[in-house]
Amino acid sequence: MHKSIIDITAKKKNKEKISVVTSYDYTLASLCDKAGVDILLVGDSGGMVVLGYENTIPVTMEHMCMFTESVSRGRKNSLVVADLPFMSYQSDISDAIKNSGRLIKAGADAVKLEGGKPIVDTIHSIVRAGIPVMGHIGLQPQTTMLSQGYKVQGKTKESAIQLIEDAKALEKAGVFSIVIEMTSSQVAKMITEKVSIPTIGIGSGNQCDGQVLVIHDLLGMYDKIKPKFAKQYLNLSADIVKSIKEYKKEVESGKFPAQENSFTMDEVEFEKLQKESN
Ligand code: KIV
Repeated sequence: MHKSIIDITAKKKNKEKISVVTSYDYTLASLCDKAGVDILLVGDSGGMVVLGYENTIPVTMEHMCMFTESVSRGRKNSLVVADLPFMSYQSDISDAIKNSGRLIKAGADAVKLEGGKPIVDTIHSIVRAGIPVMGHIGLQPQTTMLSQGYKVQGKTKESAIQLIEDAKALEKAGVFSIVIEMTSSQVAKMITEKVSIPTIGIGSGNQCDGQVLVIHDLLGMYDKIKPKFAKQYLNLSADIVKSIKEYKKEVESGKFPAQENSFTMDEVEFEKLQKESN
């Protein structure tokens, strides 16, 4: 049986940190699950690191459903949370509920959507439909990114108060957890102390109840953007290119495939074949 929402919220009460990584496909999801992470987040960042878009705006429900199906087939223990992509929940509450339902049918245990106070009615309606919701405040790539670019949030007293109010409003609307993205660590800490649900930080200091990283940043597989807040634990892109170059060289020199990578025909059968074909 995989982790439940209750297992995740209990971690805050027990003062245990929550580990989250993004996942978009079966193979990496299985490995992250095997490593024991608490939550696999099917992020719309997949639009950038998997599909090659410049940002998350072009990501569709079809993309997210396909990512979610693949990830859910690869997990055994982790909780799966899937992002509602841009314009799948902003224009209409009934769309938001239907699209959340599609992600749940695709294998997610919960959905995540970006926004603070302005989005609480939508969140409340999704929760009332029986679907667990994770909030997302601070830098919101689907919207703040468009107006302000990649800017640290919560740097002034006014914006800090706004963020704290957003977090409290989300808690009241029924979210089980809140991602706080690229927000000053003091504000992230204050929010963490003021809400009873777990906060998951990304670029928001180490006082949140958990942390999330984009798996491609963690493994060093995406070179286009290298956020200051991401820690690279491997340099996989260099190793991948090196291995593929070696393969190419071996194909060209005939070293690959070797005997152990090949299949042979029975000797007697082969002799018969040769006699017949002469
Ligand atoms: O899409 C994503 O990867 C996210 C994380 C950055 C939290 O929302």
